Amino acid sequence: MSTIAEVTERILAQMPPAARFTAEDEALLIRFAPSLAELEERLIRGFYDVLFGHPETARILSTGERSEREKALRRWWSRTLQGPFDARYWQWQAAVGLVHIRQNVTNPMMIGMWGWLLNALQGELLETLRLLPHEAARLMEAFHRLAATAQALTAESYLRHYLIVLSRSTGVSTELIDRLVAVELSSFDPSAEA
Ligand code: HEM
Repeated sequence: MSTIAEVTERILAQMPPAARFTAEDEALLIRFAPSLAELEERLIRGFYDVLFGHPETARILSTGERSEREKALRRWWSRTLQGPFDARYWQWQAAVGLVHIRQNVTNPMMIGMWGWLLNALQGELLETLRLLPHEAARLMEAFHRLAATAQALTAESYLRHYLIVLSRSTGVSTELIDRLVAVELSSFDPSAEA
């Protein structure tokens, strides 16, 4: 059974370094952390307004108080602004994939909300924090690399753990499942769908 640490390492190694969150991005985020922390209320409110306003996601959140549901993302935002972006942090992003499987949160829901978050952040940096355009642009670059790295980890760990559980419960190795998928799709012609 692969550990979260192994799965995380394998996913990060697949990402081209130019696309991954960097040490410079980390330094920049930490420098702006006090201002970014002021956005917590607005971002969390907006995020959950969207999720509670959509039946498919509202259904998942419907148990318990809204303030309880909000805790996961508040904790994530404050930990993200504190750093460090070490192995533990990235393993946590991979672990979110598993928590999401357990809660029936799908990758389209997660990726969709990352897109929402990036757009919301861009507006907040300019309109609420009134950063200079070049500062906002540089910070958004860092957030986009953070988004790509976190989404890769959360979505791929979701898929890998789905396969690991399938493999353990059927006795078919994940390598064999990969090969069966390749054989099954070898004659697939995407242009027939265009
Ligand atoms: C930007 C996208 C998202 C991020 C960064 C994110 C992050 C997180 C984190 C950090 C956790 C806590 C993991 C832990 O236990 O340490 C979590 C849990 C959870 N997330 Fe997400 N999430 C995202 C999108 C979503 C979406 C779209 C939903 C849909 C309803 C969702 C629903 C949940 C639920 C129900 C939990 C479990 C919370 C609990 O146990 O109280 N998340 N998420």
